[in-house]
Amino acid sequence: MLVLIGFMGAGKSTVGRLLAAELGVPFVDSDAAVEARTGRRVADIFASLGEPAFRAVERETIAHLLADPPAVLALGGGAVEDARTRETLREHTVVYLQVDLDEVRTRVGADGLRPVLAHPDLKVRYANRLPQYVDAAQVSIATRGRTPDEVVKEILACVSV
Ligand code: S3P
Repeated sequence: MLVLIGFMGAGKSTVGRLLAAELGVPFVDSDAAVEARTGRRVADIFASLGEPAFRAVERETIAHLLADPPAVLALGGGAVEDARTRETLREHTVVYLQVDLDEVRTRVGADGLRPVLAHPDLKVRYANRLPQYVDAAQVSIATRGRTPDEVVKEILACVSV
């Protein structure tokens, strides 16, 4: 499995779709899979059951997806907070799409579908996650000032799939 990780707004879905088309494999998004599995929107799960409940279903969903046939899999930005998920990722090719926090705000703005964006501790979360992304990934790719196509080219140059 080729797995894309990174903060919200890093371009995991856009890049992931292009990369999957290039490689001739399906593109899968863990948030979409959580929604299909639960029949609820991610924002609804956060609002009605809380973040820990979302993280639990996210972890299970990702464990199933990682056992599926090869695909490009984009993980929700917070998936790496889970130590078990980080451990499972070690058996896969993991690419970290790096995005600065100011760029996140420009790219995704105030998005009601991303509950974590509205948290007052966004800066702290961002800082806490950086080492987790770096730890989980074999390759880190900077996205600032690059088009999705350029990011895809760099990924293909860096990983053997
Ligand atoms: C989250 C990121 C979102 C989604 C959920 C929580 C986070 O995914 O999983 O809203 O904690 O950073 P994207 O990174 O695809 O926006």
